[in-house]
Amino acid sequence: MIKILASVLAADPLCMGQEIGRIMQAGADGLHVDIMDAHFVPNLSFSPALSAAIRRVFPEVYQDVHLMMEDPGRYLDTFVRAGADAVTVHAECGGDISGVLRRIRALSCHPGISVKPGTPAEKIMDYLPLCDQVLIMTVEPGFGGQQFMPDMMGKIRAIRAAGYAGSIQVDGGVNVHTAEDCVRAGADTLIMGTALLRAEDPAGVMAACRRLEDADEARR
Ligand code: DX5
Ligand code: ZN
Repeated sequence: MIKILASVLAADPLCMGQEIGRIMQAGADGLHVDIMDAHFVPNLSFSPALSAAIRRVFPEVYQDVHLMMEDPGRYLDTFVRAGADAVTVHAECGGDISGVLRRIRALSCHPGISVKPGTPAEKIMDYLPLCDQVLIMTVEPGFGGQQFMPDMMGKIRAIRAAGYAGSIQVDGGVNVHTAEDCVRAGADTLIMGTALLRAEDPAGVMAACRRLEDADEARR
């Protein structure tokens, strides 16, 4: 079953609560919260206060936290305490990535590893046994509303070919059209910002994306 996580980076920050309510009502499986530190990526976004506020107002909503930070290990406990259900870190951030992934697991949270477009899938193969999810960036991380990079689909295939049975997420420029490539390649989770939060009919967008899986199964 395809999961769809709404990326709150695309929400109007002055209407965050209403936008989250609307998108969850429309049937999103959870929220994707992008944390940017202005060092790992050239942008700043949210702090743990947003995760905590979401947890307070929407206690049942699944929170997938994507840490685009140079030193994610310093903030794991803070984000899990604030309300993260899953925490994804980048392979490019350096340091003790296995230790970071184990720490996320020890905090009873789902660990994930991500790669930027320029990083090959081989770079994360050793971490797969420690991860519940892999996040394939299909744009350069840092900003919403960018163009999807179809060349990244080979990484999804390579990770599935390596026998990885966990969740594979795609993030960046995912819409009802580009989602088809992702599902065919073996992704099971679509992270959608602009194409979902700025849509007039978000329920319709999600229904169309979920139908892609049936079409993919019929083709096999
Ligand atoms: C980009 C973020 C994405 C972003 C996706 O660095 O990781 O989660 O919100 O936004 P769209 O779907 O608009 O490309
Ligand atoms: Zn993200």
